[in-house]
Amino acid sequence: MVINYDEKAVMKEVFNVMNFIKCPYEALPKDNPDTYVMRPKPLKGTLFVSFDNLGFLSGQVRVRGKGKGEYPFHYLEMIDHVFGREENTIEVCSGSVNGGCFTVDINPETNPQIVDDGQTLAKIPSDSFNRWRCDPPYNENTAKKMYATDLPKPIRLLEAGARVCKPHSLLFLLLGPANYQWHPKGTKRIAYIDVTVVPNNEVRCLNVFYKYSDG
Ligand SMILES: C[S@@+](CC[C@H](N)C(=O)[O-])C[C@H]1O[C@@H](n2cnc3c(N)ncnc32)[C@H](O)[C@@H]1O
Repeated sequence: MVINYDEKAVMKEVFNVMNFIKCPYEALPKDNPDTYVMRPKPLKGTLFVSFDNLGFLSGQVRVRGKGKGEYPFHYLEMIDHVFGREENTIEVCSGSVNGGCFTVDINPETNPQIVDDGQTLAKIPSDSFNRWRCDPPYNENTAKKMYATDLPKPIRLLEAGARVCKPHSLLFLLLGPANYQWHPKGTKRIAYIDVTVVPNNEVRCLNVFYKYSDG
């Protein structure tokens, strides 16, 4: 028997982001709870999911910047703490990241496992990974001056990421100050986290997506 249903509508009905949360959380306020609240350890900050929208997590974390465009201190540990560790992860625009994931960068001098454009990932078969992380240059100026590349388009990075991930994967895209709403077919944006960087007071935005089906 074939059951016809609108996959997107079903996702809206039944999707609960709390099913992905692996860290301790609390329902607050205690006398009449309306929100789940959690700590993004080892970073400082607060993340929350309100009972009236269980499909979305928001919040803010404070990080210490590392320089040379690297991930801020403890940023990756925070992701593992909140969403659980995933061994089968692809790290796109990997830069200095190595170990514990499969690395891809367009610049061979960063010694990634594969040199490839993250907007296509042409050398990587579809449905290969359970998680995708990506940290592209934050703006045109940085792309040109720091990495001698063009600025990759977030939607194209996401499309390639969604293709190489299996259904039920999470995709983590760290951008500059961009509350990034677009997402490829078959994915849903499930979290937006403000990342404020000290000491230079920059803002980064972590946008998290869930791939529910092959687009
Ligand atoms: C902000 S850095 C990433 C830093 C990394 N998170 C770290 O902790 O070292 C951006 C990286 O994206 C790479 N890059 C730029 N355009 C790319 C593209 N189209 N595909 C793959 N990598 C790209 C650059 O070579 C650079 O290594």
